[in-house]
Amino acid sequence: MPQRFLCDDYRDVGEQKCTRNHNLPDEGRAIKNERRLIVQIVNLPLTRVILANMPAEPQKTFYLETFGCQMNVHDSEKVIGTLISQGYRQVSTVEDAGLILYNTCSIRDKAEQKVFHRLADYKKLQAQGKKFGVLGCVAQQEGEKIFERAPHVSMVCGSASYRNLPQMLIQIEEGKRATGLDDRETDECFETEFTSRSNPHRGYITIIEGCDKFCAYCVVPFTRGKERSRASDSVLAEAHQMADLGYTEIQLLGQNVNSYKDPAGGSSVKKKTFAELLAAVAAVPGIKRVRFTTSHPRDFGRDIVQAIESVPTLCDHVHLPVQTGSTRVLDAMQRLYTREQYLERISWMKAAKREISITTDIIVGFPGETEAEFQETLSLLDEVEYDGIFGFKYSPRPNTPALKLEDPIPDAEKARRLAVLQEKQRSIQMRRNSSNLGKVFEVMVEGKNEARGQWIGRTSQNKVMNFKVPEGAIPTVGGYVSVVTTATFPNSLAGEMVI
Ligand code: 5AD
Ligand code: SF4
Repeated sequence: MPQRFLCDDYRDVGEQKCTRNHNLPDEGRAIKNERRLIVQIVNLPLTRVILANMPAEPQKTFYLETFGCQMNVHDSEKVIGTLISQGYRQVSTVEDAGLILYNTCSIRDKAEQKVFHRLADYKKLQAQGKKFGVLGCVAQQEGEKIFERAPHVSMVCGSASYRNLPQMLIQIEEGKRATGLDDRETDECFETEFTSRSNPHRGYITIIEGCDKFCAYCVVPFTRGKERSRASDSVLAEAHQMADLGYTEIQLLGQNVNSYKDPAGGSSVKKKTFAELLAAVAAVPGIKRVRFTTSHPRDFGRDIVQAIESVPTLCDHVHLPVQTGSTRVLDAMQRLYTREQYLERISWMKAAKREISITTDIIVGFPGETEAEFQETLSLLDEVEYDGIFGFKYSPRPNTPALKLEDPIPDAEKARRLAVLQEKQRSIQMRRNSSNLGKVFEVMVEGKNEARGQWIGRTSQNKVMNFKVPEGAIPTVGGYVSVVTTATFPNSLAGEMVI
């Protein structure tokens, strides 16, 4: 294995010594301890102490599989960091692990069934002394019922309780069962001392947890609890720490980021609106790109568009889930806006000085959705001309009001509507992307596709750009290069690096 280096702030700088000037005497020390390589430190002084006290090769091992959204991916980064700080080592197979964890999602389908099947498959491994834990939304939704259906599970923990993981780990190591299910109202879930970010250039920061909207189809308010925002000074402190560690792109996360309400108070700290928080994060020295997801149309203000217009580091991309183009169905979904109000927000973005890429989520086959109402969704696609959509077949979720609605749509019909929707969107994307031909974009380099001899990058609008580089040029992963677009496809662009 090639020797790898780490700078004094524990940033993995790969196989080269760090070239940044940290003014520290021992930059670029060789790493023998693989564990340090994967820990991206949030709380630096504390973590150094703990790492220094840890055994060089931890015997306790864990395997973690993550299902679901970016919130879950980021939660897993916190879980991994916490486990490492508790003397565990992450392994990549179930076979090598002493503790097997699933961070679960329950937003659609029969997610809980998938988890129970997976647990049943691995039940036989209990005889080898392995322990099992269920984390995330299915853990919160099913609670202690999980112990009844899968008695070999030792830990069930919802996302708001991850700060209690150290104590829970001790309990399960002692052979007891541990649960963490009662914290859905806490705002203490934001300050995690340890976050193991897997990408050293681009990272997430949670700014708001939970949801109070209670859309008729959605399980999130039941699994992630009530809406609570994180203080802006805490968000900014984490952004500064990330910039110091070498991150250049930050993505602010939350179920509804633009419902953000800064809890900061006192005479010295002025509360920030979401748009002000965006601008403040974008102004952190070293940060080149700021993204945010997901926005709710109801709380989407013009000030967000104005911030994007005036702050170049804010990416020109907004994900604004519409769910359906029919005002009648929007009302049944309890989305709190009409088609016209949604289109008004789109018109603000279309009128912006910078071209803003717009993406959305759509549910087809909500109970009672008629063919004419589905056609309204199709006409909305034509009207908005999205740069991308995520289409879903409605799936009934436990506890949600939509469960009681009559007139379910057969699965085959939902599948047909989804296929029609996606076909229509494909041609829209083909058309929209072709307008980028010949344009030059700054892309963040993400890696190389060796088989194709192409580099992979992402534009500020979040479009994937596959590009070739001139003879002898080697772009740095995580760096930014200019690329001229030479070909366009429905889901990506292709180009050549410009020097
Ligand atoms: N059925 C289908 N899609 C759903 N979503 C949320 N709940 C459901 C459900 N019960 C979709 C919405 C949301 C996205 C994250 O998942 O489109 O915006
Ligand atoms: Fe679910 Fe609606 Fe809240 Fe989004 S706004 S998380 S769809 S309840």
